[in-house]
Amino acid sequence: MFQNQKVSYSGVQPSGNLTIGNYLGALRNFSTYSDDYKCLYCVVDQHAITVRQVPADLRRRTYETLALYMACGLDPEKTTLYVQSHVHEHTELAWILNCFTMFGELSRMTQFKDKSAKHADNINAGLFTYPVLMASDILLYQTDVVPVGIDQKQHVELCRDIATRFNSLYPDTFTIPEPIVSKSGMKIMSLAEPTKKMSKSDENPNAVVYILDDKDTIIRKFKRAVTDSDTEVRFAPGKDGINNLMSIYACFTGKTMEEIEAEFAGKGYGDFKLAVGEVCADALAPVQQRFVQLMADKGALEAQMKKGAEEASYIARRTVSKVEKKLGFVQLR
Ligand code: TRP
Repeated sequence: MFQNQKVSYSGVQPSGNLTIGNYLGALRNFSTYSDDYKCLYCVVDQHAITVRQVPADLRRRTYETLALYMACGLDPEKTTLYVQSHVHEHTELAWILNCFTMFGELSRMTQFKDKSAKHADNINAGLFTYPVLMASDILLYQTDVVPVGIDQKQHVELCRDIATRFNSLYPDTFTIPEPIVSKSGMKIMSLAEPTKKMSKSDENPNAVVYILDDKDTIIRKFKRAVTDSDTEVRFAPGKDGINNLMSIYACFTGKTMEEIEAEFAGKGYGDFKLAVGEVCADALAPVQQRFVQLMADKGALEAQMKKGAEEASYIARRTVSKVEKKLGFVQLR
C-alpha cells in the first residue's frame, strides 16, 4: 500500500496521563521506527468513551496526547498522527467486523473481564466490542506490525483471528498483523509496589512518574520509592524496588547494571534515588518544554489533526471499499 513499505500502527487512549513507562517503552522509540516503517499513530477517543469521561477532560487530553507524541520526537512529516473520531471508517469497518467476531471470543478477553469488574455499574456493549474497534483500527491500514504493551497482546491476537477468518471467506482482503511487545517498557514497575507494572491509572500518585511531572515532583517520588532494607545498590533477585530503579537509571543513561553498581559503590540508597530522579527530570525537560510550546498553539495542533485525518482517510477509504465490494454491498460511483 505504501510503495512496499511495511506499516506500523499503534493507538493510545486520551485518558490518564502518560508515564515514564510509556515514555521509555514506547514514545521514546517511536521516532526510530519511522525510518523502517510507514507509521500511523492514533489518539483513540472512541475507545475512551467505553468508560465514562468528563467531556472537557477528554477534549483537553486529546490535544495533549497529540502534543506529547510530537514533543517526544514524532515528526508529523514522516508519520501520520490523527484522532480516531475524525476518520469515520473506523466505526464503519468495526460494524462489519462485529459480524465476523464471536460472542465467545469477546467473552474471553481479560481486559473486558477486568474492566467489567472495575466498572460493574456500566458494562456497556461498547466495552464488550472494544477489541473489534481496535481490530478495525489496525486492519484499515493493512498493518504489518502493532507495537503494544503486553496487556494489549491478546487484542492483537484476536485481530489476527478476525482477519484470518475474513480472509478465508473473502481472500486477500486484510494483511495479518503481528504484535510487537517492547521489552524495556515492561520493566518499569510501580514505585510503591515494585512487583506491579507502573500504570497510568494507578490510584496512588506516588507510585507513578508522569512525563509531565516537574523536577521537584519527580525527585520527591523517587526519594519515596519503596526499596528493601539492604543499603547496597546491587541488582539481585528479590530486590524488586532497587532493580526497578536501576532499570530506570539504565534506560535513561544507557549504562549497564555493572556500571551502575560501580558508580554507586559505597554510596547509599538515598544518593542513588536522587541520581535517578535527576537523570529522569533532565531527560524529560526538553520534552516538557516542547509540549508547552505545542499546547500554546491549538490552531496548529488542529491543523495537524486535519492533515493526519486526511492522510489516514485516504487509506482507510480504500480498505472499506474493498471490504464492502467483497461483501456484496452495492457500490455507487
Ligand atoms: N487498546 C489500546 C490500549 O488501551 C489502544 C488502542 C486502540 C490500540 N486501538 C489500537 C493499540 C490499535 C494498538 C493498535 O492501549
